[in-house]
Amino acid sequence: MKEAALAASFFNNLFISPFFDMFTAPELLEKLNAYLADAQFSRAPLHLYEPISYVLSMGGKRLRPVLMLMAYNLYKDDVDTILNQAVGIEIYHNHTLLHDDLMDRAKRRRGHETVHEKWDDNTAILSGDAMLLLAYRYMLQCPEQYRSEVQNLFTETAIEICEGQQMDMDFEKRLDVTAEEYLEMIRLKTSVLLATSLKIGALLGGASVEDAESLYAFGQNLGLAFQLKDDLLDVYGDPAVFGKNIGGDILCNKKTYLLIKALELAAGAQQDELKRWLLATEFSSQEKIAGVTAIYNKVGVKELCEQKISEYSACAVENLSAVQMPDNRKKALLDLVYSLVAREA
Ligand code: IPE
Ligand code: IPE
Ligand code: MG
Ligand code: MG
Ligand code: MG
Repeated sequence: MKEAALAASFFNNLFISPFFDMFTAPELLEKLNAYLADAQFSRAPLHLYEPISYVLSMGGKRLRPVLMLMAYNLYKDDVDTILNQAVGIEIYHNHTLLHDDLMDRAKRRRGHETVHEKWDDNTAILSGDAMLLLAYRYMLQCPEQYRSEVQNLFTETAIEICEGQQMDMDFEKRLDVTAEEYLEMIRLKTSVLLATSLKIGALLGGASVEDAESLYAFGQNLGLAFQLKDDLLDVYGDPAVFGKNIGGDILCNKKTYLLIKALELAAGAQQDELKRWLLATEFSSQEKIAGVTAIYNKVGVKELCEQKISEYSACAVENLSAVQMPDNRKKALLDLVYSLVAREA
């Protein structure tokens, strides 16, 4: 399948020199995919479970479970013992995507129709709900000694993601969102899940409290760079590689770093034109995307966004250096930072 191949190639592109007993990212991805492929989501009624199998079979990068497995593998080798939690975090992520696509009116994901487009809105809501519960079931199948901590961490993260998603929607209607507010919104909607994936992996691997916190901080900064890059690709990506329609954020008036900076920097007629697009109620989608992108290009916000991505990835690298492990053991995580910054999907 094309998307599965895409996900595989993302990790395969990483330059990795495995440290004796450690697994490479492509090996962890393969384990995860094999375990996920064996999971059955085929009970009746078909209309509840079919969209779940559909979205999970479309691949994606599988970033969060691979991060969890990588963090665990810093401390322990028996990575198979946490595949339930890794699958749980991926099902949870896919749950957020079903609901996010509905909220963002997105028509394409991973090169295919989104669930609410292929079926309908109610299907995306209910299959999405079922995925949240399935995710909990997988997540809580961990050793008794860790269960309460994993449950609290996962639950708090899921609540934070709701908060981030609400802020994201509230911001659509405002013109005065600051860069600081935007960064807090993406920390909540995106970064905390990467951070928690790493922290759960570390906890289950028996990491020290300090290391688990450093890995959480690493995930937060990586997540900020990751969402900034997602927002950049939403305007400048190649739809065939990105797998989502380009310009979706512009059509929803999403307050991305690009738009916030453009509102700050555009002057005179450009400022008026940008505001006109943001307030317009009737327009051709293609014209709005082209008009707003042209303003972005003129005021140079792409470069500002790229700078911000570099800043947060540098912070992530710093956080990783605080993890009390030899450098060669942390190399795969370090390589991942650079691959995510350079990614096109
Ligand atoms: C999409 O996440 C949602 C964001 C937080 C930007 P990914 O870019 O990890 O999506 P998949 O799982 O690889 O498709
Ligand atoms: C997604 O942000 C965050 C969550 C799914 C929680 P986006 O709305 O930018 O993600 P995409 O671009 O649709 O994948
Ligand atoms: Mg979206
Ligand atoms: Mg969204
Ligand atoms: Mg996006």
